[in-house]
Amino acid sequence: MLSNVALFLTLSSLVVAAPGTKRWTDSNANCKTFYADIEAQTDSNLDLASVIGPPPASQQALVQATIDQFAAGSTVMADIANASKIDVEGIYSLWFEYCEPKEGKPKGIFQTHHGLVGNAGYWNVLLDGKTDNSFAESAAAAGWATLSYDRLGVGRSAKPDGTNVVQIALETAQSIVIAEKLREGSLDSVGSFETVVGVGHSYGSALLSGVASVAPDTFDALILTGFTANSTTGPLGLFAFQSTIASVAYPDRFSADANDYVITPSVSNDQLGFFHYPNYTQSALDKFTATKGEYTLGQQNSISGPFSLTRDNFTKPVFVVTGENDAPFCAANCYVTSLGEGKTQLDTAKDLYPSVSNFDTYVVPATGHGINFHTTAYEAYQRIVKFVTDAGL
Ligand SMILES: *[C@@H]1O[C@H](CO)[C@@H](O)[C@H](O)[C@H]1NC(C)=O
Ligand SMILES: *[C@@H]1O[C@H](CO)[C@@H](O)[C@H](O)[C@H]1NC(C)=O
Ligand SMILES: *[C@@H]1O[C@H](CO)[C@@H](O)[C@H](O)[C@H]1NC(C)=O
Ligand SMILES: *[C@@H]1O[C@H](CO)[C@@H](O)[C@H](O)[C@H]1NC(C)=O
Repeated sequence: MLSNVALFLTLSSLVVAAPGTKRWTDSNANCKTFYADIEAQTDSNLDLASVIGPPPASQQALVQATIDQFAAGSTVMADIANASKIDVEGIYSLWFEYCEPKEGKPKGIFQTHHGLVGNAGYWNVLLDGKTDNSFAESAAAAGWATLSYDRLGVGRSAKPDGTNVVQIALETAQSIVIAEKLREGSLDSVGSFETVVGVGHSYGSALLSGVASVAPDTFDALILTGFTANSTTGPLGLFAFQSTIASVAYPDRFSADANDYVITPSVSNDQLGFFHYPNYTQSALDKFTATKGEYTLGQQNSISGPFSLTRDNFTKPVFVVTGENDAPFCAANCYVTSLGEGKTQLDTAKDLYPSVSNFDTYVVPATGHGINFHTTAYEAYQRIVKFVTDAGL
């Protein structure tokens, strides 16, 4: 850690900004971390345990369950979609990182929601001695604060029942409570905000689409990254994550997790699911694998829930930002679409938001699903800042 700091300082003094592009080596953000207890309730979790049973007894049992789920004639997917709804409520400790501009009152705050295999760190990626890959830094440079958190079940946050509790419906309710606290000024000591923009990546974008249905006034705009309404069903889809019991794949990091907590098992799975070679640095891929987060079978099997909800009452601006080569949401080529001339697969998301008039998309060139780890991330962040600015926020 100390040697990283030393390296950072050395590089900082050597790097010279290219003319015409804004590149900084000094941080624009003051960040702090804290835990907060979040109380939330939903009546829309799935009784998934009635379909897939208790946590798998072993890695071999999990692999067989995966085969059974996709076997010819299997009814497991249909049974999951048709599982009965259950009430879940609880107070859970979540881990937060709050960043604000070093100077001036923030214009507003981005409340972020990371995807599967991610954690809060996805929004503050510090790489290669530069802050270019940090969303929180780009936001701060533009005068915005950022609140990120390890979603329920992930990293430093609470890890309750990973099958029936840690699911997208309960997390949707938590996101709404957190945004309310930001508006009231009752989340730790971060202050109150009139403008709260929801930012998601992948599962986090699906989660925000749930929020837009359940409580359409929660956010002033939505930024949905790593997202379309055309998620990939073939070999480049979620299946390529090869969900493996987290404590088996990486015992040093996840030995305390129950067997319904899973993760991608190798750097090649991470590349397959999240990267587009060669448009990232070696340290980006290494950092992704070394810091990635676990997820639950409950999350994996509830991610599609929000797609079947209606959002007729949601009218706020929506910006979809997805890598051209996103594997799980574009089958690695967002330009292949049946929507017609001038459209991409990102436009499929418009169907989810029929009452939104300010809807726009940005295809991040030569970029995979994990946008924030690519060399194109900085440009993507500037597009996001421009979108909210142009929307008058
Ligand atoms: C869904 O569940 C209900 C009640 O449990 C059952 O009657 C129905 O046949 C199921 N539908 C499908 C498509 O499995
Ligand atoms: C992606 O990488 C290739 C090969 O290095 C390079 O030619 C191209 O300009 C990169 N694309 C972007 C958008 O950075
Ligand atoms: C939409 O808003 C109207 C008016 O507030 C309300 O009556 C209706 O229940 C809402 N619909 C949904 C699906 O939330
Ligand atoms: C959805 O993705 C597939 C490739 O996986 C593509 O062939 C199809 O055209 C896409 N659908 C739309 C509506 O873009």
